[in-house]
Amino acid sequence: NWTTGSVIEEQVAAIREQVGDRRAICGLSGGVDSAVAAALVQKAIGSQLTCVYVDHGLMRKGETEQVEKDFVAATGVQLKVVDAEERFLKALAGVSDPEEKRKIIGREFIRVFEQAQAEIIADEGPAVEFLVQGTLYPDVVESGGGTGTANIKSHHNVGGLPEDLEFQLIEPLRKLFKDEVRMVGQELGLPEEIVQRQPFPGPGLGIRIVGEVTKERLDLLREADAIAREELTAAGLDRDIWQCPVVLLADVRSVGVQGDGRTYGHPIVLRPVSSEDAMTADWSRLPYEVLARISTRITNEVKDVNRVVLDVTSKPPGTIEWE
Ligand code: XMP
Repeated sequence: NWTTGSVIEEQVAAIREQVGDRRAICGLSGGVDSAVAAALVQKAIGSQLTCVYVDHGLMRKGETEQVEKDFVAATGVQLKVVDAEERFLKALAGVSDPEEKRKIIGREFIRVFEQAQAEIIADEGPAVEFLVQGTLYPDVVESGGGTGTANIKSHHNVGGLPEDLEFQLIEPLRKLFKDEVRMVGQELGLPEEIVQRQPFPGPGLGIRIVGEVTKERLDLLREADAIAREELTAAGLDRDIWQCPVVLLADVRSVGVQGDGRTYGHPIVLRPVSSEDAMTADWSRLPYEVLARISTRITNEVKDVNRVVLDVTSKPPGTIEWE
């Protein structure tokens, strides 16, 4: 007889028992799973938990603030934010290859996280022996059901941590599916924007700029992405769409006309998809009026963008992301 209340109670008791008077740390990614896992552990052990949020500068508009302000306000969690934007941009300078970008982002993430972790361990206080992970039931099944040590699948986790960690894992969501995790999050009082968030890749906007990642391009893409999200939400389409990558073709230019002048700007790609599990996907048949509004607003409001195009490819053969 499954209820969110009983899941929370059971987990809180189990976590208290497991941790005792020692300490735990948890990486927050801005996504649903790590947020709910952290909130549960916070409920169980309060200030014995410290969360770490690495701001790599590749987040979407408002997302870092959501973690820093709204999540903290809702949970009272102790949070260490590391502003690492400059470091990530420096490491990514001159790099266009998608896998190379992923490697760099993953590598830098681990370095920054480890440093934050070392600082927390060095603080006064009981031993830090636990690491909280937002592992869900499908992840458990996928990885063969193993437990106990920090061996995290690397592909879909920028939070993917080094394998030589000495921590014991706390995985309070191991028996849950995504929709159940959202219910638990809601019950714990987390902000709607976090609980209902669609999937977003760990490497963030870094893999949604086709070409080199620069601060200027990120700012431009952030604006375009925020407009698309705003309009999709206003049209009530969030639940019909699995996710909608907004992609900047930074190395492509096309001719346009705006006001009384010729422009030579970049295209923005909209990639709305429907899917059950991201393994396969179909392109979403969005209403034309919504597409028109997004297009008009992006070309009017985002400097250097003079064209908006729609990706009408299923997966396979296309992937959901462009990189
Ligand atoms: P693709 O593009 O492979 O994406 O069809 C499938 C799902 O995975 C997400 N994705 C990632 N998530 N790190 C992540 O954490 C990554 O490197 C990554 N690449 C793709 C993508 O957003 C989609 O939900």
